[in-house]
Amino acid sequence: MARSVVAITGASSGIGEVFARKLAPEHDLILVARRRDRLELLAAELDKSFGCRCQLVEADLASDEGLETAARAITGEPDLILLVNNAGFGSKGCFWEKAYGEEEKMYRVHVMATLRLTHAALQNMVRKDRGAIINVASVAAFIRNAGSVSYGATKSWMTVFTEGLYLELKSIHSNVAVQALCPGYTYSEFHDVMGVDRLRMAPGAFWMRAEDVVDTSLAGLARRQLIVVPGWRYRLLTAFFSALPTRLRIRVETLSGRARSRQLTSSRERTEIGSPKSGEEA
Ligand SMILES: NC(=O)c1ccc[n+]([C@@H]2O[C@H](COP(=O)([O-])OP(=O)(O)OC[C@H]3O[C@@H](n4cnc5c(N)ncnc54)[C@H](OP(=O)(O)O)[C@@H]3O)[C@@H](O)[C@H]2O)c1
Repeated sequence: MARSVVAITGASSGIGEVFARKLAPEHDLILVARRRDRLELLAAELDKSFGCRCQLVEADLASDEGLETAARAITGEPDLILLVNNAGFGSKGCFWEKAYGEEEKMYRVHVMATLRLTHAALQNMVRKDRGAIINVASVAAFIRNAGSVSYGATKSWMTVFTEGLYLELKSIHSNVAVQALCPGYTYSEFHDVMGVDRLRMAPGAFWMRAEDVVDTSLAGLARRQLIVVPGWRYRLLTAFFSALPTRLRIRVETLSGRARSRQLTSSRERTEIGSPKSGEEA
């Protein structure tokens, strides 16, 4: 019998790579990312271990061309059973200090890619009345922070978008499932790409393994759970922040934002002093 297919964006590292490893024993995969060499290594390993066939899609999802290449791969796969919109990145610093292009890129990868690829995947899924979408958002969808305006905004959009899809699918009694996965701090390359010191971000108890995040997501999918927040600490925190009246929530977030701003400023100062780039420019 033909194996069903799972498409994963951002499969070259971190949470996306773990999704690929967990799903490879039973599914063939469409792996999307910019770093083809990383995808090739992963595909060779999954083929050897599980006989998993991988279609590699080297694409920058921030570009129109890259996004259409990924959308074509998804539309062209009749046996697609799951799409994981996982590609993403963070950034640091105040909104007005960051280069506009970087900000726009975040909206393209988190919002436009999720929009386009979900639309592509649902065409067949809704018609066949089977399949699922996992959108990897963040606890930042519930807890906003100074220093990550666009991150919080795009991850909130992903969560609200997923909720809207859930309501529409329910309204037609569809069997297609959707999930917004909202992890907290997770060990991956995310904070290296951001250029921040993990030790300064949060105490050790708040850090999760990508394997545990993915296990919780897949267990939630089996229960058709709409919002999945891995880890009891984060479930408590998101429940607390969601229950607060808006004015009180903003006051709490303002206080934590001031602390975070100080932290980001000092880490920025260290980066500027220590980075080879600043040396080159000098
Ligand atoms: N780690 C955390 O603490 C944390 C917490 C909450 C939510 N998340 C979310 O989890 C998701 C996965 O992040 P991660 O923690 O696994 O980080 P990661 O290890 O840095 O992985 C990010 C993945 O996204 C891909 N990607 C980034 N920009 C891309 C682009 N323009 N086009 C195509 N692919 C792109 C990267 O691949 P290439 O570089 O090869 O393109 C990489 O495979 C993200 O959406 C992130 O926002 C992470």
